[in-house]
Amino acid sequence: MTDSLSLRPVEMADADLLLLWRNDPDTRQASHNTDEVTLASHLVWLESSLSDLSKRRLWIAEVNGVAVGTCRADRMAGVWELSWTVAPEARGKGVAHRMLSKLVLYFKEPLVAQVKIGNMASIKVAERAGFVLDKQEQGVLFYVYPNASFRAD
Ligand SMILES: CC(C)(COP(=O)(O)OP(=O)(O)OC[C@H]1O[C@@H](n2cnc3c(N)ncnc32)[C@H](O)[C@@H]1OP(=O)(O)O)[C@@H](O)C(=O)NCCC(=O)NCCS
Repeated sequence: MTDSLSLRPVEMADADLLLLWRNDPDTRQASHNTDEVTLASHLVWLESSLSDLSKRRLWIAEVNGVAVGTCRADRMAGVWELSWTVAPEARGKGVAHRMLSKLVLYFKEPLVAQVKIGNMASIKVAERAGFVLDKQEQGVLFYVYPNASFRAD
């Protein structure tokens, strides 16, 4: 049986772990900004991110109390943009699918996601969770989650 995955809100105490995952080479490769992030700028970003839940929400995914990934929702014009990262040591086990399929249920508003072309694992994860390709621009696939209005409270 698969151990259950839970999502909990990120806290400042998660800063080091999140920075480690953010600076992982594959995470950087998948990001728009591929630069390594410094601890100082990360702390400023995290503190500001946690200060206004109407603009950004961050979660840690845990299996048996062990952190296995993180996901993020950024409020854009009328939609939430979702993004996700699995801990390097937890990749290749379907964690992203389990995170994302749980996360989409939190929202009533339309959802979007961006995935770089070539990130085959993330493309599969997005499509398996119900995201549909909307357009492709400058090496990025833009996904929409179209059935937001059909979700229950
Ligand atoms: C991309 C990422 C989120 C995938 O998470 P994961 O839980 O490790 O995903 P998995 O390895 O279980 O793969 C998911 C699916 O993609 C498939 N897959 C993995 N690598 C693949 C590849 N190179 N080509 C084709 N399919 C691939 C898997 O077989 C699986 O398919 P299934 O659902 O049919 O079983 C994770 O590797 C990660 O965090 N990478 C760095 C950051 C990142 O890319 N974030 C996403 C930004 S959009």
